[in-house]
Amino acid sequence: MLGDHPVEFFKIKMIEPIRLLSREERQKILDDAYWNIFKIRSSYVFIDLLTDSGTNAMSQEQWSWLMRGDESYAGSESWHRFEETIKEILGFPYVLPAHQGRAAERILYSHLLTRTSPKNIVPSNTHFDTGRTVIEYNGGIPLDLPDERALDSKNPYPFKGNINVKKLKEVMDEGKVSFVVLVLTNNTRGGQPVSLENIREASYLCKKYGVDLVLDISRFAENAYFIKEKEKEYSHLTVKEIVKKMMMYADHVIMSAKKDGISNIGGFIATKYEEVYQALMPRLVMEEGFVTYGGLAGRDLEAIAQGLKEAVDENYLRYRISQVRFLGELLENMGVPIIKPTGGHAVYIDVKEYLPNVPQENFPADTLAAYLYLESGIRSVGLGSLAFMRRKNGETFYPDFEYLRLAIPRRVYTESHMRYVASSFEKINKIKNEIKGLKLVWEPEIQGVRHFLAKLKPL
Ligand code: F0G
Repeated sequence: MLGDHPVEFFKIKMIEPIRLLSREERQKILDDAYWNIFKIRSSYVFIDLLTDSGTNAMSQEQWSWLMRGDESYAGSESWHRFEETIKEILGFPYVLPAHQGRAAERILYSHLLTRTSPKNIVPSNTHFDTGRTVIEYNGGIPLDLPDERALDSKNPYPFKGNINVKKLKEVMDEGKVSFVVLVLTNNTRGGQPVSLENIREASYLCKKYGVDLVLDISRFAENAYFIKEKEKEYSHLTVKEIVKKMMMYADHVIMSAKKDGISNIGGFIATKYEEVYQALMPRLVMEEGFVTYGGLAGRDLEAIAQGLKEAVDENYLRYRISQVRFLGELLENMGVPIIKPTGGHAVYIDVKEYLPNVPQENFPADTLAAYLYLESGIRSVGLGSLAFMRRKNGETFYPDFEYLRLAIPRRVYTESHMRYVASSFEKINKIKNEIKGLKLVWEPEIQGVRHFLAKLKPL
């Protein structure tokens, strides 16, 4: 039935072969990669669910716009189309391009932290790793204030991406908040959406306390679709209308266009304020490139502009969200504990529940990622202690979660790929009690990038 079933609203014109190696081959590859799935060559991966970022399939319209990329250094026509599209879809008057999301985060967040110094606390519904690291690196203190229902992976509340407004107010009362970030959807906590009501309440508090509200809109279209589906008050609006409403409450936004830009690279900052735009421009020129390309080729700007238009198409979004839901249902049927309800771009397995014998110091989420690759050739990503553990003054702080994220690239995999992914858990279900975990062999000095670079070995 349409709506419940992930019918693809496209047909396939070009294919990319993938190959399934033997378990023996994968065992060697994993050993050579120090059991860190970031170190595995993509051609050794059968189904790659490491990320939905930059891994999207472009449409024929996007490919044809690439041909029209204007590669002029300044004032490129492609830039103008990019800027106009963002203004039209999101409604912000000032736009600055960046080569990807974390560059946008770095430029905006470091400016805001400097401007509000010594206020340096940055509350969020839960920071994603790049934003968190950028804030720490610039002297800020990231503070996660998730909705309490998000801490229970079984709670069916549809907006578990929300920020805890009561706690936000308490923190605001202490007077040390630099700015607030709402990540839409909340990537670290299950790709769960944030309700319009929650955005409005956070924005109201920010205004009252004179603090800026930043939305990380990397997955704004998916978030808007959930609002249409689950927030009764707004279900009569189109996704495009909901998007405009979401943006209205923000002072600034950052976006990684590698997600809901349905592109392979790119990002941007948009703001309501001319003075912020003026202040950020010189930084952009120094660090990214001129203000009409920001580290991107003209052709990238075209692909993103077209991708943004396609991302708010409701047929596309229905397919997108139902594909994620479909994989979630298959996994649940196999007895795999997942975060419910399923979110926008990925299915998240609750690894604390799935591998209760692996302590956090042995990285349960990343352990499961490695074993899933070993048994099935599927690459996923751990979101847990390897990425989020922090050592400070001889003490170790662990995150309150261990998730395995199966992120689904946009328009890339079919229903039978999803069935293969789910059926792979038959093998994992059988061996899971023997899995002991991983041990660090080497890690980089900057803790926030540990998971990308760490060398590990199995216990
Ligand atoms: N914000 C969010 C919510 C993200 O998920 C990411 C990246 C970024 C910012 C940074 O954007 O990669 O373009 O620099 N997330 C990827 C992921 C890496 O796998 O979820 P970027």
